[in-house]
Amino acid sequence: MANPVFDAVRSMMAIRDYQQKPIPADVVTRIVDAGRLTASASNQQEWHFVVVREPENLRALGSLVRTGPYIAKSVLAIVVAYEKDSHTGVSDCSRAIQSMLLTAWAEGVGSNWTGFGGLEGVRNKVRLPDRYEVLAVLPLGYPARPVKGSKKRKSLSEVASAERFGTPLA
Ligand SMILES: Cc1cc2nc3c(=O)[nH]c(=O)nc-3n(C[C@H](O)[C@H](O)[C@H](O)COP(=O)(O)O)c2cc1C
Repeated sequence: MANPVFDAVRSMMAIRDYQQKPIPADVVTRIVDAGRLTASASNQQEWHFVVVREPENLRALGSLVRTGPYIAKSVLAIVVAYEKDSHTGVSDCSRAIQSMLLTAWAEGVGSNWTGFGGLEGVRNKVRLPDRYEVLAVLPLGYPARPVKGSKKRKSLSEVASAERFGTPLA
């Protein structure tokens, strides 16, 4: 049976090279809205998403995120932050990130998660108040090349069990 959600999960790859083709405003709004609509613990929604489009600012983010220099060549990037006081901020934002990445992918837009917490320079750059911690930066753009990589993942039997650890999942 066709399942577009599973298909998106199955086919989505980390995209690090982008066309310099603009992403329509309604698509950008849908991507960010997917973050907003995501569930958070106790529905606290203690997050903030900053959309960065200025090439100069994208270059600055590329310099600040050690593991994401290619942000500099993306069409736009979303800075994802949570309120430091939130005990579930990392979980909440991680789930919002997956919503945004899948929504982008369904529109033909590639992205990737870059960085992991402690992105203080990024927080300062986008003027997020001190009460926030930046979890990740998501560069976005239409993939530079057709995506035809296959996922390298452990088998289902290695990572899943039935009833108790080690019992194969049929
Ligand atoms: C929590 C998390 C953090 C990641 N951090 C980075 C990163 O800083 N830089 C990067 O280029 N890729 C990052 N990635 C992407 C992974 O390296 C990539 O998804 C993984 O190697 C599998 O590749 P695939 O998604 O294309 O199958 C991150 C992914 C996750 C889930």
